[in-house]
Amino acid sequence: MFSALKNQIAFFRQFRQRFETTGAIAPSSRFLARSMTSYLAARDPAIPLRVLEIGPGTGPVTNSIVQHLRPQDVFDLVELNEEFVRILSQRFESEPAWKAVKTQSTIHQLPVQEFQTSAPYDFVISGLPLNNFPAELVTSIAETYFRLLKPAGVLSYFEYMYVRPIRKVVTRGAERIRITAIDSTMQQHCDRCRIRRDNIWLNTPPAWVQHLRGF
Ligand SMILES: C[S@@+](CC[C@H](N)C(=O)[O-])C[C@H]1O[C@@H](n2cnc3c(N)ncnc32)[C@H](O)[C@@H]1O
Repeated sequence: MFSALKNQIAFFRQFRQRFETTGAIAPSSRFLARSMTSYLAARDPAIPLRVLEIGPGTGPVTNSIVQHLRPQDVFDLVELNEEFVRILSQRFESEPAWKAVKTQSTIHQLPVQEFQTSAPYDFVISGLPLNNFPAELVTSIAETYFRLLKPAGVLSYFEYMYVRPIRKVVTRGAERIRITAIDSTMQQHCDRCRIRRDNIWLNTPPAWVQHLRGF
């Protein structure tokens, strides 16, 4: 309980210091984490998997991922912020469910658009705050998601409800152009590849979890 509070405080500090990349005031709820890992949870335990988490932050979604991993799986995490990397590393040292998968897990500290891998992943689970980024970066990150995902794999990411529809109406000028471009990019991917969307009301703020199939 105490470490959960410490993580919340650390997250809020990063929100104040690095708003653009942190993108939220609080770590995701367990309800959102459960939705983000729902396809992973339905896996066949006999088949080894490659799992990638992008933007784990203090690890609320990671905490759900580690419960579903089996000994032959590979788990990579890509996180930009060194303070979050420090917290994640500590959790792999101290929390039983994390310790159990420590040897098969690797934290990479870099922007995901620069991340290279020898093989694609069965599951890509992303917490990136796309609505905060320049439109060209979102295009590049969306391409990265599908480059890293196997054709039959599942990409799960979340976005806060109604942020783009509202901002498209209430903003003007460059900000409206940016948000409209991001909306168009992500809508095209959803139109082509979406399997399901979950509404998560018990989260601050409420969120949509999008699940897309690779191609
Ligand atoms: C909205 S927070 C989500 C944190 C956590 N997954 C959660 O649900 O509470 C976004 C996270 O993405 C990370 N991030 C932002 N841009 C990134 C990038 N280009 N590559 C990797 N991580 C990034 C931030 O440092 C932060 O940890």
